[in-house]
Order: sequence, then C-alpha cells, then structure tokens
Amino acid sequence: MGLAERGVLRGKVAIVTGAATGIGRASAVLFAQAGARVALADVRAPELAQAVAAVRAAGGEAASITADLARPEDCAAVVEAGVRAFGRLDVLLNNAGVGTMVVGGTVESIALEHWDLAQDVNVRAMYLVARAAVPHMRGGAGGAIVNIASVSAFRGSVERPSHAYAASKGAVLSLTRAMAASYGRDGIRVNAICPGTIRTRLTADIVEAAERAAKEGRGIPLGRVGEPEDIARCALFLASDDAAFVSGATLVADGGATAATT
Ligand SMILES: NC(=O)c1ccc[n+]([C@@H]2O[C@H](COP(=O)([O-])OP(=O)(O)OC[C@H]3O[C@@H](n4cnc5c(N)ncnc54)[C@H](O)[C@@H]3O)[C@@H](O)[C@H]2O)c1
Repeated sequence: MGLAERGVLRGKVAIVTGAATGIGRASAVLFAQAGARVALADVRAPELAQAVAAVRAAGGEAASITADLARPEDCAAVVEAGVRAFGRLDVLLNNAGVGTMVVGGTVESIALEHWDLAQDVNVRAMYLVARAAVPHMRGGAGGAIVNIASVSAFRGSVERPSHAYAASKGAVLSLTRAMAASYGRDGIRVNAICPGTIRTRLTADIVEAAERAAKEGRGIPLGRVGEPEDIARCALFLASDDAAFVSGATLVADGGATAATT
C-alpha cells in the first residue's frame, strides 16, 4: 500500500509553494490524498485555481493563496494565510522556482535582474517563508520542511548553462543542512530533494530530446525522464513520519543520471 493510501498526513496541514503546475501541483494532490489539508500558493492565478480544483476533485481540502514569492512581503503572507485557513502548520514544501528557460546563461551572459530573480525566488523565498513557518511548527507537534533543489547543484551543463540557477540550488542544499542543524531540537526536520530531468513547464525545451536519449540508453540509466509524481512521492515520504529520523538529507531523484556521470 502506498503512503497516500495509508493516510500518512492525516490531521496535518501543509503549505506547498509553486503549487499551480508541475511538481508542486502533483505534490499538493498527493499530500491531500494522504490526508493533509493543503494551502496552495503560486503567482499564476488561473493555473492555481485549476490546481486547487484538482485537489478538491481528489477529495482534499484546499486553500488558494495568490502570491509573488519574489516579493518579501508575499512570503510571510503565504504562511499567515495558510495558518488562518487551517489553524496550524505541519508541513512546508518549498517548491516554487524559476528555471533555465527564464534565468539561463553564463556569468558573462546573464542579466543582473535575471541573476537576482533566480536567487530571490529559488532561495530568498525559502528563507522568508521558513522564517514565518518555523514559529508555527515549533509551538506544535514539530514539523517537516522539504526544500526542492536540483541536480544542477552538483554539476554544470555544457549545452544548457544556467549559472544563476546552479548557484541558487547549491544554496538551497546548504540552507537545508544549516536549518536541519538548528531546528532538530524543535522537532522540525528539514530535507532537500534534487530532481533530475522532470517533465514540467521548466523543461519544455529539452524534455523530448532527453526522453529520446534516455530510451536509447544515454543520460538516464532508468531509461525515461521523471514525471512530477515521481518527485511528489519523494516529498510525501520526507514530509511523513516514515522519515522521522531523516533530517539534513539530500534525496537525489534523477533516474540514476548523476550516478552515471560521476
Ligand atoms: N522540472 C525539472 O526538471 C526540475 C529539475 C530540478 C529541479 N526542479 C525544481 O522543481 C521546482 C518546481 O518546478 P517544476 O519543474 O514543477 O516547474 P513549474 O514551472 O511547473 O513549477 C514552478 C512553479 O513555481 C511558480 N513560481 C515561479 N515563480 C514564482 C513566484 N515569483 N512566486 C510564486 N510562485 C512562483 C510557477 O508559477 C510554477 O507554478 C522548482 O524549484 C524547480 O527548480 C525542477
């Protein structure tokens, strides 16, 4: 029986950032299927409404929070709205991100505003959302924070460089470990997931070529690109009490790609 069928988040409240599409949406649906009440936050209102509808269609309770996490004031507001909606907070999935299609390039080619956008959305928002979330978790039954990083934290790309993205995701891993060290005594676990190539809007420019290459035995040993649900299941494990002794960890979910290239 899967974790969701076992209801491993029954009675818990989760906030998922970047929940309108892709990994965030799949995670919000799976968390709801696992019994959580879920607050979904995103900057793109129409897609967010569709994701909220998907959670409700799956039998879940959902709150919708439109927020631009590049704006500091919106980060704290997400947590306030989530706690206001459901009265507590147990799980935070820090997932919102901008990727190579928006913030690609080398240190020579990237515009300063795009460099800043990568850091602001991919890392600074994690700091600001967590700053607002931790006091709610500390006061209750503890909590679980799951930060979405990337295999880009470990390696560059010759064909598709994104130095700003890589730097932001490396920072996510360091922040994850530092927070795990600080908040263990409060019963708050903090972990990171490094997805490889996952079929979402972020990879629309490369996913078909990556899938072809994987089927021909190149790039991804497991022979396919990942689906958002592959990462959602990792997030659910780390959010659940099944991961009760796991904190400060980095879970690489890339079909074996990183192992094959090192
Ligand atoms: N798809 C991949 O191959 C892959 C690989 C490694 C890591 N990731 C990471 O996974 C996470 C989710 O990305 P995805 O692949 O599901 O792509 P996605 O584009 O479907 O999801 C990202 C979400 O973040 C939201 N977002 C972006 N900027 C925002 C802002 N300023 N405020 C609020 N929300 C904002 C988007 O609207 C979107 O809903 C990201 O952190 C990404 O870096 C993805």
